[in-house]
Amino acid sequence: MTRHFLDLSDFSGNELRAILRTGEEIKARRRTPAAAGDRLLEGKVIATIFEQPSLRTRVSFDVGIRELGGSPMMVAGHEIELGERETIADTARVLSRYVDAIMIRILDHDSLVEMAKYATVPVINGLTKRQHPCQVMADVMTFEQRKGAIEGKRIAWTGDTNNVLTSWVHAAGRLDFELSVATPEELSPPPALIAWAKKQGARIKLTNRPEEAVEGADCVITDCWVSMGDDNEGTRHNLLRPYQVDDRLMERAEKDAIFMHCLPASRGEEVTDAIMDGPQSAVFDEAENRLHAQKGILAWCFGGAAA
Ligand code: CP
Ligand code: NVA
Repeated sequence: MTRHFLDLSDFSGNELRAILRTGEEIKARRRTPAAAGDRLLEGKVIATIFEQPSLRTRVSFDVGIRELGGSPMMVAGHEIELGERETIADTARVLSRYVDAIMIRILDHDSLVEMAKYATVPVINGLTKRQHPCQVMADVMTFEQRKGAIEGKRIAWTGDTNNVLTSWVHAAGRLDFELSVATPEELSPPPALIAWAKKQGARIKLTNRPEEAVEGADCVITDCWVSMGDDNEGTRHNLLRPYQVDDRLMERAEKDAIFMHCLPASRGEEVTDAIMDGPQSAVFDEAENRLHAQKGILAWCFGGAAA
């Protein structure tokens, strides 16, 4: 079976743990002589395809693939007219004849699924409009480095319902933590997503009041108000303004709570400078951990990190 990494809900909690553990182990050996044993991608070429802009995903995959001994090959979506010049299925079939794996950022989630269906090499989800699983793996790693095991902890989300939140809901269905989500009524998570999570036994609370979501939280998370591919920017700003993470909101969380944001941040909108640059902020650790978590994911795709 080709090992695709598309969606956190495809994995058991133990599998996610094993991937994170592998990422941590490789991290611990990084830049030591023992890293020579981590060249798992020696002789392999990994295509990294971007339909949308990226700093973290682009650079962390590039560096991670190189450090594991492989060769990354960046392909911009417009260069191949992704989904326009030929079908996604044919693109997947052709790429599978050249490269050993495909990491792709593409807004349309169904196109990602189609790519994986027709590819005979692993496909990794580097963000779709619906999900951002690599990000949340890095986020869980970051949380645990700062605060210990996530099991039993309280995670709060305030702001929009988007791809990052969806992957957090999937994580809550697999790892045993509490997730409190505050969104405006108009931007609530889809009922089917919440129903899925509850069926998995996830402890999820929804509210329209950010103060309620962050009360006693160990971690407060937000994201931009306008994600890639979103329209109605003005309406979103009006709806989301009360969900900004500032000192007043952060004070309601636990005293030693951390703040996370996948970045890029629109400072002054969803988060203030004081929080971004303050002692509780873990945002640059999160960005770094993309590199380490994704090495665990790449190792899993090539047969490692078994649960
Ligand atoms: N967090 C994240 O995915 O950043 P990029 O869009 O820069 O890759
Ligand atoms: N929710 C954001 C994440 C960017 C990394 C977006 O989709 O634009």
